[in-house]
Amino acid sequence: MINDLYAVIGNPISHSKSPWIHSQFAQQTGEAVEYTAIQAPLAHFSETVTDFFARGGKGLNVTLPFKEQAWQMARQRTDRAEKAGAANTLFMNSEGSLTADNTDGAGLVTDLVKNKGYALSGKRVLVLGAGGAVRGVLAPLLAAQPAALVIANRTPAKAEALASLFAPDAGITELSGCGFDATGGEFDLIINGTSASLQGDLPPLPPSLVGARTLGYDMMYSQDLTPFNRWLMDQGGLEGMDGLGMLVEQAAESFFLWRGVLPDTGAVIAALRAGEG
Ligand code: ATR
Repeated sequence: MINDLYAVIGNPISHSKSPWIHSQFAQQTGEAVEYTAIQAPLAHFSETVTDFFARGGKGLNVTLPFKEQAWQMARQRTDRAEKAGAANTLFMNSEGSLTADNTDGAGLVTDLVKNKGYALSGKRVLVLGAGGAVRGVLAPLLAAQPAALVIANRTPAKAEALASLFAPDAGITELSGCGFDATGGEFDLIINGTSASLQGDLPPLPPSLVGARTLGYDMMYSQDLTPFNRWLMDQGGLEGMDGLGMLVEQAAESFFLWRGVLPDTGAVIAALRAGEG
């Protein structure tokens, strides 16, 4: 049997866990999938994508720094990708048009709701950051109907702009954007979507955000507590979770989109947590 070809594309890419995750999914489900990693030259992303599909490739995951370019070059976009302004998944639709999806937000919400058993509905949620990573998760977060969703950013105008952009999706949720010092009161859940963690930094956050029942979720993952989760626990928060589950769930959502089969993510998350992969 000849395997269908998939890959993750980024720059750099050698650190990516996606090839390992997707090989686990393929083994589990018996799908005839080969999944590799492609480092695209920074100035030649679209040529690399075109070449991959011309060689018969079936689907791509896209990571830093190409998610916006992937969104731009696609001829079709799913609704959630359209709103996200960035794509992490590319494939050819039945008419042969390059199509973009974004499974990051679904991955985050599935990790919270299914894996952690956390109901977002009715909760006060604070999202830190207003860049591409946050924009990618807002629509699925709003669809889960928290009571309030506050976007807070170092540059407040960017948070306000995102809140305006997503106002039509807010439904029953009270949606607003502001600076870190203007969020007002305690939150049930604080999601860190700033890139500060990547540099081991922490946004300047007022301790009053955290109460004894506040959960933290860092969209970054790490074997140790991330600086944000450490801060949350130091302020007396309940638990700090990292983004490992989100990483595996967004991959599962892409796998489902391509293959129509949903893999068992629990075993893969546990293996990664134990240092495999
Ligand atoms: P990404 O694709 O990871 O979201 P991005 O679009 O460059 O990357 O956005 C980075 C986000 O992290 C922004 O919200 C940025 O704040 P600004 O809009 O004020 O630049 C935030 N960020 C980065 N480093 C930060 C730091 N040290 N403290 C607080 N926020 C930080």
